[in-house]
Amino acid sequence: MSADKPRLLPLLPVTNTFGRSAVTCRYRCGDACSHDVPNTSDNAYFGEVVAEVVQRRTMLKAGAVLAVAGAGAATVGAGSAAATPGRGHGHGHDHWHGRGDLDFRPVAPNTEDRVVAPHGYDHGVVISWGDPVLPGAPRFDFANQTAAAQAMQFGYNNDFCGLVPLPGRWRHRGHGDRWLMVSNHEYSTESFMFLGYDDENPTREQVEIAWAAHGLSVVVVERERRGGLEVKLDRHYNRRITATTEFAVTGPAAGSDFLRTSADPSGRRVFGTLNNCAGGVTPWGTILSGEENYNQYFANADSITDPVTRQRNARYGIRGGASGRRWERFDKRFDLAQEPNEVNRFGWVVEIDPLEPDSTPVKHTALGRFKHEGANVTVARDGRVVAYLGDDERFDYIYKFVSDKRMKRGHSRYAREHNKTLLDSGTLYVARFRGDSPADEIDGSGQVPSDGEFDGYGEWIPLARGDRSFVDGFTAEEVYVFTRLAADAVGATKMDRPEDVEPSPRSGRIYAALTNNSDRGKPGTEGPTETNPRPANRHGHVLEIEEFWRDNTARRFRWKLLLLCGDPNSPDTYFAGYDKSQVSPISCPDNVAFDERGNLWISTDGNALGQNDGLFAVPVEGRERGHVKQFLTVPHGAETCGPVVTDDFVLVSVQHPGELDGASADNPLSHWPDGGNSQPRPSVVVVWKT
Ligand code: FEO
Ligand code: CA
Ligand code: CA
Repeated sequence: MSADKPRLLPLLPVTNTFGRSAVTCRYRCGDACSHDVPNTSDNAYFGEVVAEVVQRRTMLKAGAVLAVAGAGAATVGAGSAAATPGRGHGHGHDHWHGRGDLDFRPVAPNTEDRVVAPHGYDHGVVISWGDPVLPGAPRFDFANQTAAAQAMQFGYNNDFCGLVPLPGRWRHRGHGDRWLMVSNHEYSTESFMFLGYDDENPTREQVEIAWAAHGLSVVVVERERRGGLEVKLDRHYNRRITATTEFAVTGPAAGSDFLRTSADPSGRRVFGTLNNCAGGVTPWGTILSGEENYNQYFANADSITDPVTRQRNARYGIRGGASGRRWERFDKRFDLAQEPNEVNRFGWVVEIDPLEPDSTPVKHTALGRFKHEGANVTVARDGRVVAYLGDDERFDYIYKFVSDKRMKRGHSRYAREHNKTLLDSGTLYVARFRGDSPADEIDGSGQVPSDGEFDGYGEWIPLARGDRSFVDGFTAEEVYVFTRLAADAVGATKMDRPEDVEPSPRSGRIYAALTNNSDRGKPGTEGPTETNPRPANRHGHVLEIEEFWRDNTARRFRWKLLLLCGDPNSPDTYFAGYDKSQVSPISCPDNVAFDERGNLWISTDGNALGQNDGLFAVPVEGRERGHVKQFLTVPHGAETCGPVVTDDFVLVSVQHPGELDGASADNPLSHWPDGGNSQPRPSVVVVWKT
C-alpha cells in the first residue's frame, strides 16, 4: 500500500488564523478558502503492493545511475537568455553570493510600512498603479480616474514580473541595458481604488476602470546610472492588455462546443484575460501568464440546471448568484444564465509576445484549464519543450506539458513563429507522488521520517495528446476544458495549493511552492502524506523534483521536500537539515526564481507568522543547502511576488500594499510608496547593491 495513504487525523488544532487579510481573500480569489474545497474526489491511489515493490527496485537502480549522471549534468533550459536576463551579464560582482554563498545580512522580520532591503543595498520604485504606460497617458490622479486613462496606465495589483531583453541587447553589459518589463495585473481591489465604493452598486465607470486595471502591462525599462531601472514611454513596444483585449484560442480545444458563445460562435476569439497571477518568460522570448481565480467574476451559476454542467462548474468553484464585482450588470457575458460557456474561455495559460506589440495574444488550450498559477518552460535534451504548471487550490494538482515539436534556436522571425506554436501540440500530464517511508512515520508532527527525508517517487500520468484522450470516460476536449475532473479520474496527488512550479536553469531540478492548506486533515479531507506532511498546513512547504535521468520529458521522477516553512523554533519546520538557529523564518511560499548560481529565491504571500511578506534566498546545493535568508520585506499588508533576480539587480512586485482588515480608500492603512496621506499603490521595486 502506498506510504502516501490518506488518513483522517487532525493531529494538530485546525485553525483559520492565516496571514492573509479578509479584503485580500475577497477581491483576489473570491474567498476561495472560506468555501468548501472544490475537490471532493476520492482519488487517492493505492497501487498493488507487488507492483510498487517492483517499481521501487527499478527506480532504486536508476537512482544509482542518476547520482553519477548528476555530477556532470548539463544545464537544461538552453536558450534561457530571455528567461534569465542577467545571463551573459556576469560581471564577476558576486552580489548575491560571495564564493557561492549568499553574502547579504538577512533582513529581520518586521511590520513596517516600507520596503526593507539589506544593509548596503538601495532600492527604488520602477512603476506604480496609474503611472503612464502608453505615450500620452494622463498622469495618475486618484480623485479623477477614468477607464480611458486606466487603459493607458499601469494596472492594479501587479503580480508576475518578467524581463525580455530588447533585440540586439542580448550581450550588452553595464548601464544602458534595456528590457521589456512585463507585469501581470492580477485583480482590482475596488474598495481601495475608489472613495466611498459601494460593492452592491458599482457604477459603470468603476467597472470599466476595473476591466482596464486587469490584464498585463509591457514597458521598456532601461538601467540607470545609479543602479535602478527607469521606464521609457516607448511608442513601439509599450502596451496594455486588459479584460477587453482580443485573444485567439489555439490548440486542440480551440473551436470546441464548450467554448462557443452567442458573441463568438467560432469558439476561437475571446475578449480579455482575468486574474493573471504568476507566469514565466519562455526561451523564445514570450511571456506566459496564468489565469487563476477567474471563477469569481462570473454570476448565477445556480441558474444552471443541467447536472453535468453544474458538477463541472462546482469543481472549479463557480457557484452562487451575484458575482463579487457585479460585472454581470454591465456585460451579459459574465452572467452564466445568459452565456453559460463564457466561463470556459478563462482558466487558461495565455502567451503574449512583447517583441511584437501588434500580435494577438493567445490562450493555449493544450495546457489544460484550471486555476493556473503560472507556467515555466524549459528545453529538454532532445529539444522539445516542457512546461510545468500548478493549480492553486487546496487539494489540487501539479501538471506538466511536453511538446511534440522541438524548439528552433535563434531569434529569427521564422524561429520565433515556429516556437510560438510549440505549446499547441503535445501531451498534458498530471503528477502522482508516492512517499517511500512507512505511513506511521508520517504522523503530522512534521518530524522527519527515519530514512532522513520526506521523499519518494512519482509519475506523470498522461491525460491527453492532441485529439486523443487517455482518461476513460473523457473525450480529449473534455480533458482540456475540464482538466480538474480528468485529473481526479486518474488519481492525481492532492497537494497543498501548488503555486509556482519552476525548473532551475542550473540543475534542471524543479521546485514547487506549496503555499498552505488550511483544510488538510479536516474531517472528510485527506490527512498528512509524505508529500504534504502537515495537517492544517499554515506555512506551506517547498518541493524539489528530479526527473528520471534528468530528462524533463521523463514519465517518472524522484522528489524531496526542501523546506517545511514556519517558525524555525517550531519542531514541525524543516530546512533541508540546515541548522535552524541560523535561518530566517519563512511562511507561505508563493513565487520562485533562480539566480545565476542556481540559488533559489522565494517570495511569500500571507506570512502567517504575523510579519510582513518578503523575498528569501536559499542555496539548494552543498553545505549551505537549506540556509534560508530573508533578502527584503514589503510594506504591511502587501504580498511579495514576481521576483526577477539578476547579477545586477532584483525586481519584486509589491502587490496590494496596506490591504489589511478595516482598511479602504476611505481609511488607508498604508501610504506606500508616495508617503504623507497618499493612497497605497501596487508597484514594481528594484533593489541593487550600492
Ligand atoms: Fe494568485 Fe496562487 O496566487
Ligand atoms: Ca522518506
Ligand atoms: Ca501567486
